[in-house]
Amino acid sequence: MTRVTIRTPKASDAAGYAAAVRRSAAHIGRWNPVEPDGLPDLMQRQGPGLRTFLIVDREDGGLVGKCNVSNIVMGRYCNAALGYDSYLPYAGTGRMTEGMRLVVDRCFADPSVGGLGLHRLEISVQPENDRSIALARRLGFRHEGFTPRMLFLDGAWRDHERFALTVEEWPTS
Ligand SMILES: CC(C)(COP(=O)(O)OP(=O)(O)OC[C@H]1O[C@@H](n2cnc3c(N)ncnc32)[C@H](O)[C@@H]1OP(=O)(O)O)[C@@H](O)C(=O)NCCC(=O)NCCS
Repeated sequence: MTRVTIRTPKASDAAGYAAAVRRSAAHIGRWNPVEPDGLPDLMQRQGPGLRTFLIVDREDGGLVGKCNVSNIVMGRYCNAALGYDSYLPYAGTGRMTEGMRLVVDRCFADPSVGGLGLHRLEISVQPENDRSIALARRLGFRHEGFTPRMLFLDGAWRDHERFALTVEEWPTS
């Protein structure tokens, strides 16, 4: 039994989300934007190209992390990018990894059972972000390559290592 569950965000999560992001600002900020008040806007942007999952601790209901499944393209591609943050005090306890396994399960599951029906997932990580690279590898993502100046983060175009996984490689498929 996992220690976490995943669910889509609701309006009533905004305050808890803001508090989780605020107390995790130093942990998140080197790698991702810190936007404590960003949940309402993120919820507005949900649609065919973007699905957000919150990872929640089963025992106390606290927010363990968030994963955006973005750039969703269906048709012959069925591909999306995963972007994530974990929150204190759960960061580094293995809960984020458990939650991300559930997110990947959901991404690959058939729409008839509530899944997104995706075939391939990407994770792009700055080369020095050891914890994120470790997470991608724990999930079984393969290193595919290096893309210079891939994303504009913290005032500059940042190089990224690209990892990917297809459903054929996923343990539960
Ligand atoms: C990248 C990030 C999401 C990883 O999350 P995390 O909180 O480290 O994830 P987990 O807790 O699942 O990581 C497992 C770690 O907990 C440890 N751990 C402790 N108890 C554990 C348990 N019971 N089971 C499994 N692992 C456990 C593992 O040893 C592992 O540590 P290690 O990576 O030093 O080996 C997080 O560091 C983060 O939010 N970073 C800032 C934002 C960011 O970089 N986002 C990604 C941009 S690409």
